[in-house]
Amino acid sequence: KKGQRLLIVSNRLPLKLTRERSGTWRLDRGSGGLVTALAPVLRNRGGVWIGWPGIPQEKAPPNLGELLDRAGRDLGYRIAPVGLSRREQRLFYEGFSNEVIWPLFHELPTLANFDPTYWLAYHQVNRKYAEAIAAESQPDYFVWVHDYQLMLVAQELRALGVNSYVAFFLHIPFPPLDVFLKIPWRLEILNALLQFDLLGVQTARDRRNLLDCFRALMPDVKWHGRGRVVVGQVNDRFVRIGDFPISIDYRSFVRRAGSKEVLAVRDGIRKTLANCKILLGVDRLDYTKGIPHRLQAFREALREYPDLVGKTTLIQVVVPSRTGVPQYRRLRAEIERLVGTINGEFTKPGWVPIHYIFRSLAPDELLGYYRAADVALITPLKDGMNLIAKEYCVTNVDNDGVLILSEFAGAASQLQHGAILVNPFHVQQVASAIHQACTMPITERKRRMKKLRQSIRKQDIFWWVDSFLRSAIAKDLSEFPQL
Ligand code: UDP
Ligand code: G6P
Repeated sequence: KKGQRLLIVSNRLPLKLTRERSGTWRLDRGSGGLVTALAPVLRNRGGVWIGWPGIPQEKAPPNLGELLDRAGRDLGYRIAPVGLSRREQRLFYEGFSNEVIWPLFHELPTLANFDPTYWLAYHQVNRKYAEAIAAESQPDYFVWVHDYQLMLVAQELRALGVNSYVAFFLHIPFPPLDVFLKIPWRLEILNALLQFDLLGVQTARDRRNLLDCFRALMPDVKWHGRGRVVVGQVNDRFVRIGDFPISIDYRSFVRRAGSKEVLAVRDGIRKTLANCKILLGVDRLDYTKGIPHRLQAFREALREYPDLVGKTTLIQVVVPSRTGVPQYRRLRAEIERLVGTINGEFTKPGWVPIHYIFRSLAPDELLGYYRAADVALITPLKDGMNLIAKEYCVTNVDNDGVLILSEFAGAASQLQHGAILVNPFHVQQVASAIHQACTMPITERKRRMKKLRQSIRKQDIFWWVDSFLRSAIAKDLSEFPQL
């Protein structure tokens, strides 16, 4: 409703607290696509953001509330922290969220570790979030819970007697039925999801998968409607499911792309790598991002197309992530070994094939890299959306870059007409796409990039919020014929 205030709940706050060597506390922006997408929404509408500030409770400074209040005033909304103990961080965040749900929902069930203590902690921490919401919420708030760490929150809110409208958005993929069935707590999770009033996912495929699971495991729920939003009837309650592809603040990225700072970074990179086509990869250190496959494809391209040798450089930025989870530590070693092997095979005086950066970049620096790159190489094995793909295109205000994009990124369904779509598991195909991108005539590059940028301009982050909120407004059920 008009004037209704937003109460956003996500595991991670948009700000991450870290302690410097000198002992003073610093607030950095939280990493990942969820934060990038939601920050402009709250800046625009005001409201409250409830979440975890990124450090264990035992280590938090005594004046945490004050620090966040001040930061929130600068950002234009209220920030309410949820503290997680070291144990909760280990079992709920690293354990259930990132060793069970994350691999399974990305269709990598062999990486999942179904430890029952993880499930207990997941349940308890979801209750903790529900309590924080109940304490913060006012009757006119629209409660909007985000992502896979918090799938039980509506159920816990109902148990606390909160009956207000509660919506949910899943930022990662929802897996096909045969993968979902592997979770020991599959029924508990589906039951809890039914307690939300609206369930949003990124793509039509995710919506179909979720619906398949409900149909197979909860045959008593009746579903109405077809198309983007369907309605389920659970006794006398209704739950809607729709797909809403998330996006970015188009205008803000375009504006920042032309700033002095960004142009200085771009020019610095181009000067150092003069006469070279620049390929760029930017990812959190995550096995879903397909970084080793990508490095192998680049090696294949150098072997197969000698005209690229000495004239093409891959800049691969890897942002440290989830360092407490063993799979992530192993992946780092694998990537670094591959970078070393490939550079060892091809480097010659004046040219190193892969420039490897292992740290997070400052915002202007990241945009400078986007602007310097001739080609963005974005090849996740599976990804909810992938905002790097959208950020690269929008920042490419000269319309002369090329996007190589995995068909398994959620972004592929909107960007398929301008991007070169690839199967990231097919190393030879990605190698040939790299060659195609590096030799593509300027007229074709411009034609494709204009299409890409136009589609993101039309469906930017504010379009996403509006379409999500609009579908929350009650419609007559007669508009949804029973399936
Ligand atoms: N990003 C960042 N710091 C960096 C590099 C990237 O905060 O050093 C941001 C980037 O701007 C993007 C997000 O991280 O918005 C990555 O989102 P994406 O959807 O591509 O993947 P996710 O990390 O959410 O899986
Ligand atoms: C993805 C997830 C987010 C998460 C982000 C960063 O975007 O969908 O929920 O916040 O990755 O991961 P982290 O574990 O550092 O919060």
